[in-house]
Amino acid sequence: MAQGSEVQRGLEDVVALESRICFIDGKEGRLIYRGYDIRELAAHATFEEVAYLLWYGRLPTASQLAELRGRLASLRTIPPELARQLDALPADAPPMDVLRTAVSALAVFEPGETSPGPSSIGGAQRLTAALPTILGTYHRRRAHLPPLEARPELSHAAYLAYALLDRAPSELEARAIDVALILHADHDLNASTFAARVTASTLSDLYSAVTSAVGALKGPLHGGANERVLDLLDEIGELERADEVVRGKLARHERIMGFGHRVYKVEDPRATILREWSRKIGESKGDLRYYRLLQRVVEVVHREKGLYPNIDLYSGSVYALIGIPRDLFTPVFAASRVVGWTAHVLEEYDDLRLIRPRSQYVGPTDLSWTPIGDRK
Ligand code: ACO
Repeated sequence: MAQGSEVQRGLEDVVALESRICFIDGKEGRLIYRGYDIRELAAHATFEEVAYLLWYGRLPTASQLAELRGRLASLRTIPPELARQLDALPADAPPMDVLRTAVSALAVFEPGETSPGPSSIGGAQRLTAALPTILGTYHRRRAHLPPLEARPELSHAAYLAYALLDRAPSELEARAIDVALILHADHDLNASTFAARVTASTLSDLYSAVTSAVGALKGPLHGGANERVLDLLDEIGELERADEVVRGKLARHERIMGFGHRVYKVEDPRATILREWSRKIGESKGDLRYYRLLQRVVEVVHREKGLYPNIDLYSGSVYALIGIPRDLFTPVFAASRVVGWTAHVLEEYDDLRLIRPRSQYVGPTDLSWTPIGDRK
């Protein structure tokens, strides 16, 4: 690349491709999936309907939805070889590492699903259906819970919650998870989706693309932020300490997890919706401690830094109140975003162009070879 070309660090505001899947209006705080506002989807849709919308580009009819539900429920069981692999992993392995390993291993046990192209929709649905089982199999072993049953009568959200708890969720809890899954399902070219599309753009298979994406989502600047929000709430402890703790962190130039966003310049609309769910679930449990602490942190961070909450601020409080362990918050994010990743991978196969940007080289170009014995 010509020296002197302008570098967009972090590819900020770079438009890399055309997509029909998801639109973020960062100034107005709007998020659109395939033409539908996220507020409408969170109010009316189920996760399965949103998955259909993202994969096929339109809302399903009643029979299409019933068929997809049935297919996802029938694809929940994982191969025994994979279950044995999960059993062989250390019980204290980080869940995102387990998930990354399992996604990759599933491809080895199901080689028929891996050819790139439109037939990859089979792999997309298989992975979406299997992720809760993978997480539940791993978690239930370490938590000494009874083994997982397929429970085909449960919706995807209720099955995910059941897999991670020792009980089926209440109707309110299942709907809270359903809404959280809808809100996390896609978000344009975020880091993990971009990673998936880069991998798919080499004509690699969908499982490899999702493995890349899981690795990218794990980082605390992306999916890993939700767990750390709860660590912050623990550190604050009492409402009266919120000011002091947050201001101390900002003075030390530490980032406050759950705030700021590369694209949104106002509040993330997903945060607005999940804030209500954080309150609703808190009220149903008679425990508004997290909700109140979060509200205070929002006030302080906005006053001190002018930053707005993102989705990760509120998701953890919803999951924690339902009883989902903290180290599974980011895997729950993945169990939703897998739909967006795979929709993007399918779009990439449909309009393939190898993604291969350049760097601006800023190192030397005229060094002479030094024999190894002469090097210092
Ligand atoms: N806490 C404190 N300061 C912040 C935060 C934050 N959460 N976010 C941004 N800033 C500050 C930066 O320090 C910087 O200040 P400066 O100009 O005085 O140095 C300024 O805001 C701009 O920050 P950038 O890092 O340039 O913004 P960027 O677009 O790269 O950051 C990001 C986006 C990574 C999400 C950032 O806001 C952040 O680190 N947030 C915390 C982690 C988080 O919540 N991640 C989840 C994002 S949503 C998701 O992935 C689902």
